[in-house]
Amino acid sequence: MKGVVVYDTSYGNTEMIARTIAETLSESGVEADLFHVKAVKRLNTDNYNFIVIGSPTRMGTMSLTVRRFLGKLKREEWVNKPIVAFDTELPDNLEHKEWSAAEKIADKLVEKKMNQLMPTLKTAVMGSKGPLKEGEIDRTRKYAEQLAFKLKVEKV
Ligand SMILES: Cc1cc2nc3c(=O)[nH]c(=O)nc-3n(C[C@H](O)[C@H](O)[C@H](O)COP(=O)(O)O)c2cc1C
Repeated sequence: MKGVVVYDTSYGNTEMIARTIAETLSESGVEADLFHVKAVKRLNTDNYNFIVIGSPTRMGTMSLTVRRFLGKLKREEWVNKPIVAFDTELPDNLEHKEWSAAEKIADKLVEKKMNQLMPTLKTAVMGSKGPLKEGEIDRTRKYAEQLAFKLKVEKV
């Protein structure tokens, strides 16, 4: 089993969450590559069994680059494959489920009939440039440990 964590970032906060997920998966025995979304040409199901995708929340949704990337994932290749979505957003925004990049990513991929394995991970930044709210890295580690467990149980 091998997966890929793909993220966008402007100020590095979403990258820190992405890196924490990839590292925690690896420490839990699940191999995962880590790529900035602009570094990904084409993702292939021959190489990857699952995808984790994250974006900063911009105007209540994902970044344009992440949106374009999702558009390139071929439905016929990824149908039933596990996906997980995460984002960074301002603390007040966490109360508004529908204004979240992670929710919009998950909706798009469920439309492609992919298998949303976990509820989205929404993490808070204290301002547009960060830093991440205290405790978010620990919360992300716990989330990624649960994800590794699920991936193993479901024998992805
Ligand atoms: C143009 C712009 C629009 C933004 N819109 C939102 C928004 O709608 N909701 C929100 O919670 N945060 C918003 N933010 C704050 C971003 O979520 C924050 O900059 C981002 O999480 C930081 O992640 P990064 O360091 O990975 O770029 C916005 C930031 C920018 C620059």
